[in-house]
Amino acid sequence: MSRSGRDSERRVKTAKGRTASSTRWLERQLNDPYVKQAKADGYRSRAAYKLLELDEKFALLKGVQRVVDLGIAPGGWSQVVRKIAPRAAIVGIDLLPTEPIEGVTIFEMDFMDDAAPQALEDALEGTPDLVLSDMAANTVGHKQTDHLRTMGLVEAGAWFAIETLAPNGSFVAKVLAGGTDAELLTLLKKHFRTVKHAKPPASRKGSSEWYVVAQGFKGRS
Ligand SMILES: C[S@@+](CC[C@H](N)C(=O)[O-])C[C@H]1O[C@@H](n2cnc3c(N)ncnc32)[C@H](O)[C@@H]1O
Repeated sequence: MSRSGRDSERRVKTAKGRTASSTRWLERQLNDPYVKQAKADGYRSRAAYKLLELDEKFALLKGVQRVVDLGIAPGGWSQVVRKIAPRAAIVGIDLLPTEPIEGVTIFEMDFMDDAAPQALEDALEGTPDLVLSDMAANTVGHKQTDHLRTMGLVEAGAWFAIETLAPNGSFVAKVLAGGTDAELLTLLKKHFRTVKHAKPPASRKGSSEWYVVAQGFKGRS
């Protein structure tokens, strides 16, 4: 999406009861071209553009038949999958409720729950060829703790992908820059033919998030 033609910046007065950080968040939302575009395009999240941009670069959604969306809420990524691969079966999971999306099976459940992987596999009625993870743990404001918590989710997502994907399948996950990334890369490189990092333009420059894109699953040994 073009960032040109930006409307003039909107400032938000610090209202009673609103903290400085929530004022900054609101200001950023109001001035964010992706938020405006998402409203215009009918996407539930600005995150939808991250997947669209990743797909443009890596052709992730080309020919996919079964897709798992980890951390589905509010549903932007699944909306994108529906649009680009309308015939694909999609199963999503989130701790938070997600408004229904036609053609998508949604579990309101913790992915770290022991029963979650089987529930997803059963609902898909076959092996996925794409596992997406946009999961992020709630931040506590301590950089290293936040990093470790989100990387724990990513690692669980990676193992789920390795244990369920069809040969040649793909795994895409949001990662946070810092400490444990090297271990994840080693694991993925062992099981996928190509492993790349990307920061789609829709990902805010100031955030430490990146996406890891692993393609060409070598199959379960
Ligand atoms: C950035 S949002 C996902 C946005 C989504 N891709 C979209 O386009 O609408 C991250 C989601 O991960 C979910 N999440 C975090 N930990 C989770 C867990 N253990 N199990 C399931 N979902 C989780 C959060 O509840 C949150 O909704």
